[in-house]
Amino acid sequence: VAITVHPDFSKTKKISNLLFGAFFEDINYAADGGLYAELIQNRDFEYDPADKEGKDAGWNNKKAWSTSGDGIGFTIDSLAPIHPNNKHYAVLSISKPGASLINGGFDGIALKAGAKYKVSLFARILTGGKGTITVRLTDGRGTVYGAAVINALTTSWQKSDAVITVNESISNARLEIIPMINGVLALDMISLFPQQTFKGRTNGMRADLAQTIAELHPRFIRFPGGCVAHGDGIGNIYHWKNTIGPLESRKPQRNLWGYHQSMGLGYYEYFQFCEDIGAAPLPVVAAGVPCQNSGKHGHPLGGQQCGIPLSDMNDYIQEILDLVEWANGAATTKWGKLRAAAGHPEPFSLKYIGIGNEDLISEVFKERFRMIYNAVKKKYPEITVIGTVGPFFEGSDYSEGWKFATQLKVPMVDEHYYVPPGWFIYNQDFYDKYDRAKSKVYVGEYAAHLPGRPSNLETALAEAVHLTALERNGDVVHMSSYAPLLAKEGHTQWRPDLIYFNNTEIKPTTDYYVQQLFGQNAGDEYIPGNIVCSDNDPRVKNRIALSIVKDSATNDVVIKLVNLLPVRVTASLDLDSFKVATSAVTKIILAGRPDAGELKPDRTQGLSLKDIEKIILSPYSFTVLRISGKR
Ligand code: AHR
Repeated sequence: VAITVHPDFSKTKKISNLLFGAFFEDINYAADGGLYAELIQNRDFEYDPADKEGKDAGWNNKKAWSTSGDGIGFTIDSLAPIHPNNKHYAVLSISKPGASLINGGFDGIALKAGAKYKVSLFARILTGGKGTITVRLTDGRGTVYGAAVINALTTSWQKSDAVITVNESISNARLEIIPMINGVLALDMISLFPQQTFKGRTNGMRADLAQTIAELHPRFIRFPGGCVAHGDGIGNIYHWKNTIGPLESRKPQRNLWGYHQSMGLGYYEYFQFCEDIGAAPLPVVAAGVPCQNSGKHGHPLGGQQCGIPLSDMNDYIQEILDLVEWANGAATTKWGKLRAAAGHPEPFSLKYIGIGNEDLISEVFKERFRMIYNAVKKKYPEITVIGTVGPFFEGSDYSEGWKFATQLKVPMVDEHYYVPPGWFIYNQDFYDKYDRAKSKVYVGEYAAHLPGRPSNLETALAEAVHLTALERNGDVVHMSSYAPLLAKEGHTQWRPDLIYFNNTEIKPTTDYYVQQLFGQNAGDEYIPGNIVCSDNDPRVKNRIALSIVKDSATNDVVIKLVNLLPVRVTASLDLDSFKVATSAVTKIILAGRPDAGELKPDRTQGLSLKDIEKIILSPYSFTVLRISGKR
């Protein structure tokens, strides 16, 4: 197959500079045990039987904790806790100093030789005299990898910390707390953090995982979900106020994906992470209704939608308005003061809020959405509200959601679709047909799914085809994010995902590299390009996709070519019309067997225009040509 590519610079159009972002949901252990760098599981003794689905789960306040040695009693109490949101704590009765309370982390604690770890805890002597607590990192078989001593035990709650330097790497250590007292001791918020978090932030993110997300160069990050945002019942709606402030005052919650959210990774941390990687924050709040997809998450509503009682809606709306004040208000405002107290006196510059997550467009939803939307628009007209046009199931469409959004003139709406690769191949004109006068689009969740099979080069290339169509439609599609982003091995509730990981390794998928290539090679001007193909069969033509963008900051022009055919394609580029005099071209190729799951792109720098006049697109490949704008 041979193609000729003719760009048409006379028809250049402005496109969104926020097109490629990231969707973060606390699904698949993405937060606790994942991106959040805390190494202790159930540090606050707040795990609850309701957190874990299945009657055999046996989760309770002691989850992940055990004792070792003689003369130690371990119970849970809730009398006079550190904070009412953090009701439970451990009570250790020590009759023989030397016995220990042990935590195995999330599938073990991974430690690196030479690295420093900060251990902290709240302690209170209930009976007996003062003493010290020895804290050790061990393999459970007698080898100690590092230790520290914590002093100053008093009869009221007191926080203490120490730094442990680890002498050897180990992937599955455990933390041992050894109170050197004879008496009864209360402990809570037992925490262990690597000192080296992403950007060195206190209460920060796991550095390697955060870096992998940063390398997507996302222009925005959506959080905290997905379904986590609206929960599987009114009582499970995510409330941002529960997730800020001192860690011991945050309110943990059952995660509807079948585990526990400590809220250690909360709104402050999300906003700070966005700032750290130059991404716009995009919080999504429930539209006053929880998830109605009973089939999907097995909640008892049976597909009916319920909502926050109308009598409580004013409070709920105020909570959303307060979020804007918390993010953007001066440090002297009621909520801005809390942001400043957390360490960020400057506003976070929040510009977007998502209201609703693929909700059924029922009367219950409409009534509540309208109330929230009008209130935000009135108080904060500068904020762009992103509505939802509902779920996209087989046989359904977005018509009801679009009708409602158009009526209300919602500036942007969120569309989701998880579909087979063929859908992306045969619906490249999906947005070409969208009415430019209506709401803009945020493709908030999408992925190519091969039922029962992991993602691979075929799904990645189908997504690349789709992303070229999004660039072409970057005047109406303003944002997009693949979903879900993260999945911890052994704790995955949803497949496929973009980045798999365990405690020591990060395993980006081939699809990740497609996202990365688009993120790192985005533009803000679209240059229409015409492909003349030697084969007119639509099954051939639809498997070759092109987009050309220009980045006005650098004047670089980027040509992206996808070949989803099992054969080579010879591509001749009409480069004369590019009118760029440069000898700096970078060529990046992602290619391989269609079923390959963890491919990485190859990069060749220092090419000239001459070198790319005629190129071969390998079977099943994605090629990015970045032509430097420097003369
Ligand atoms: O991305 C996984 C889930 O898919 C999201 O939580 C939800 O919005 C969608 O149904």
